[in-house]
Amino acid sequence: MEILGIDIGGSGIKGAIVDCNKGDFVGDRLRIPTPQPSKPQSVAKVVARISSHFDWDAPIGCTFPAVVKRGVTLTAANVDKGWVGTDAAALLGKHTGNPVLMLNDADAAGIAEMRFGAGKGVDGLVVILTLGTGIGSSLFMDGKLVPNTEFGHLVIRGKDAEARASDRAREQKGFTWKQWGKRLSEYLQYLEALITPDLYIIGGGVSKRYRNFFPHIKCDTQIVPAQLRNRAGIIGAAIAAAELM
Ligand code: BGC
Repeated sequence: MEILGIDIGGSGIKGAIVDCNKGDFVGDRLRIPTPQPSKPQSVAKVVARISSHFDWDAPIGCTFPAVVKRGVTLTAANVDKGWVGTDAAALLGKHTGNPVLMLNDADAAGIAEMRFGAGKGVDGLVVILTLGTGIGSSLFMDGKLVPNTEFGHLVIRGKDAEARASDRAREQKGFTWKQWGKRLSEYLQYLEALITPDLYIIGGGVSKRYRNFFPHIKCDTQIVPAQLRNRAGIIGAAIAAAELM
């Protein structure tokens, strides 16, 4: 089955048609910069442009970098606060003329990694962390998603974990890989103490440079890089829409 997957991020909104059986794009991806400020109406117009670009007339799976329940975006850590309480599924549905399934961006990436990437066939408790502007998290027990975990907002040393250990924090604070690795280790160990995962999968753009920072990470849980990288959100969103709509 083919579904249009759309990944709404803080800097870009990306879309591609996904072959949900193969877990890959059919043709090219389209990326349009996220309007600033990223208000619901402006973002909805971009999503509609992507849907028209693909001449799409079927369900859409769409990620959002916040808590999403029953189509409503409930938080907005790194996007315009106007999204809090917005029925995003209804808004994007109106603009695209298609039914839209909304889900958290890290949950979507996790779905794709568990189905086609580093988590394929892995049972037990798996945590996927996407390291980018924020820290996204998704949690799977025996392959089943527990949505909206928001582990990026655990408080470490009195601060939001993502403010200390996201890839943006690394860039902004000019950390070396070793310094960043130390912060990540502290975060991963804290999460371990809470839920004792069987596997950590590390995603987000920086995961392609895992050889630089994995050697500096100390934790008891097995840790592997994500495999689908920046395609994971789009692919996971499409799979979720194919299965839930
Ligand atoms: C948000 C999460 C999101 C993550 C990655 C966090 O700030 O609270 O919902 O998954 O950033 O975008």
